[in-house]
Amino acid sequence: MTASLRSVHLTGWGAYVPSQVLTNTDLERMVDTSDEWIVTRTGIRERRIAGPTDTTASMAAVAGLRAIATAGLSVHDIDLIIVGTLTPDYPLPSAAVLVKEAIGNSHAAAMDLAAACSGFVYGYGIAHAYLASGLAHHALVIGSETMSRCTDWTDRATCVLFGDGAGAAVLSAADDPGGASGIELNTETAATYSIWIPGGGAARPANQATVAAREHYMRMKGGETFKLAVRKLSSTSLKAVEKAGIELSDVDLVVPHQANVRILEALAKSVHYPMDRVFVNIDRYGNTSAASVPIALAEAVACGRVKPGDRILMSAFGAGGTSGAVVLEWTADPADRLRAEGIGPERVTLMDSGVEPTNPFPPELEWIMVRPQAPTSEKAAVAVP
Ligand code: ACO
Repeated sequence: MTASLRSVHLTGWGAYVPSQVLTNTDLERMVDTSDEWIVTRTGIRERRIAGPTDTTASMAAVAGLRAIATAGLSVHDIDLIIVGTLTPDYPLPSAAVLVKEAIGNSHAAAMDLAAACSGFVYGYGIAHAYLASGLAHHALVIGSETMSRCTDWTDRATCVLFGDGAGAAVLSAADDPGGASGIELNTETAATYSIWIPGGGAARPANQATVAAREHYMRMKGGETFKLAVRKLSSTSLKAVEKAGIELSDVDLVVPHQANVRILEALAKSVHYPMDRVFVNIDRYGNTSAASVPIALAEAVACGRVKPGDRILMSAFGAGGTSGAVVLEWTADPADRLRAEGIGPERVTLMDSGVEPTNPFPPELEWIMVRPQAPTSEKAAVAVP
């Protein structure tokens, strides 16, 4: 093992969101809510819903292929694959194993990372350490979620908040300066059960009673989560900035987890940072959990908000009281994203499990699949990758 640490640059990025759109007006038909309530309380106007053939691994593979192409690498150059997710295709094997097979990578170690909405930033921190220590050269870090499949579509308190999608980054070890300079990962156990899925694990294995009690869906104490999110996003971000040896005012763009625009406004106010330098796209995707930071990053680059030399702060908060922040100096050419053009879901086939397929699409949403108007296409609606 090398004695000195190497620099680790972000060399590739990409995102993928499914084409099906669920608007606030659609939700008004399903639960007792209103577009006005959702927009003023959260900033969300619409979110994407994974189609029957999309899964966390399939979306992750598309985003991953886009990130690898953007980095100008071959899939075989990737030594480590980390998928941050709370919605893996199966409890076993990991989504990362399915992604590795789907992209055709030959030799990477592959694993999932369970840190809820902080999953991508946690994965970034761990991959950074792995590459900086000389254990590998290139890592693919993905955040991917199919939140629509753990959402209780009868619960208005949670079903308006979440959406599906995937985002990815390639990290590459290098000898020239740049890349991440400050990383802080943190977990506050007081929030352990503020957001949780009670059923389906070893403590409460799935059975008829847990399913009847809807324990396989996410539950959340919104108010508690809101306050803790603001506090932890602030403290964790400031710690990462301090580790980077800079001031917060030196950060050119904050790319935060998109949970609620009011959380982001409260965060900006609490640390005296201008809101116009906080990237916000929650209006179009809702909270995509671990996918939200890399989707936001890909969009920020695509719409010209990032240029070489910029200092970027990625910051996330999630279930279990997890929080993470990364300060990095951007060194890639934003135009490299054009290398990923033409890479779409048709490029990805997941390995057949041999088990009879089932339709995983939430029955409460089936009506949106058959309505007459064409859904907004991915290309028209968003500037990803
Ligand atoms: N439509 C209409 N009314 C609603 C809805 C809805 N969709 N949801 C709740 N309400 C009602 C409540 O029932 C309540 O009514 P009451 O006063 O008659 O009891 C009222 O609105 C206010 O409810 P609050 O929960 O106090 O509303 P709040 O302003 O706190 O907003 C929200 C709720 C949006 C959930 C907010 O608390 C929030 O964003 N919390 C943070 C969520 C988060 O950050 N999650 C991130 C982690 S997720 C993860 O890691 C997977």
